[in-house]
Amino acid sequence: MAVVEQIFPALTWRIRHIAMYPAHSIEFVKLANDFEGIHFGIYVDYELAGVVSLFMQGDIGQFRKLAVLPDLQGKGLGKQLMEYLIDFCKLQKLTKLWCNARVNAKEFYTKFGFHETDKTYTADGFDFVIMELLINHEK
Ligand SMILES: CC(C)(COP(=O)(O)OP(=O)(O)OC[C@H]1O[C@@H](n2cnc3c(N)ncnc32)[C@H](O)[C@@H]1OP(=O)(O)O)[C@@H](O)C(=O)NCCC(=O)NCCS
Repeated sequence: MAVVEQIFPALTWRIRHIAMYPAHSIEFVKLANDFEGIHFGIYVDYELAGVVSLFMQGDIGQFRKLAVLPDLQGKGLGKQLMEYLIDFCKLQKLTKLWCNARVNAKEFYTKFGFHETDKTYTADGFDFVIMELLINHEK
């Protein structure tokens, strides 16, 4: 069984490094504002297997660096983390959640209702598109 918990910021770095930028140093995956974010980890058999980081500004949230260890991808862990994150944002009464999505992961996000914006860019060898999800808009 996999369990999602809020985690200390520095615990995200190893997973981000292995899953997202293994060719870079671990310093590369540290964010300047990591200690201002809220971080979630998914544990499988008590071991950290995936992470995601949330940064809130007013009622808008940006999530960054969703990452699942390569050996454990494709088993529903990313989905479980995203569902937890979206529920958390609803409880926080955020109105919008957005991310810089790697284009090759775009369809992953559309499964949760995210839609593409027209904002795209390339960085660190990856193509990105900004995607967003409107939340708490139901009447
Ligand atoms: C993207 C990532 C977080 C997805 O996590 P995961 O645990 O492998 O995904 P899940 O097993 O929960 O997949 C859930 C669903 O999304 C689909 N999916 C997973 N990765 C996908 C991708 N890259 N593109 C499109 N669909 C994807 C799965 O097929 C599954 O579909 P289903 O529910 O219809 O069966 C993970 O693969 C990862 O860490 N990749 C490397 C880092 C990365 O790209 N991070 C995102 C940066 S924007």
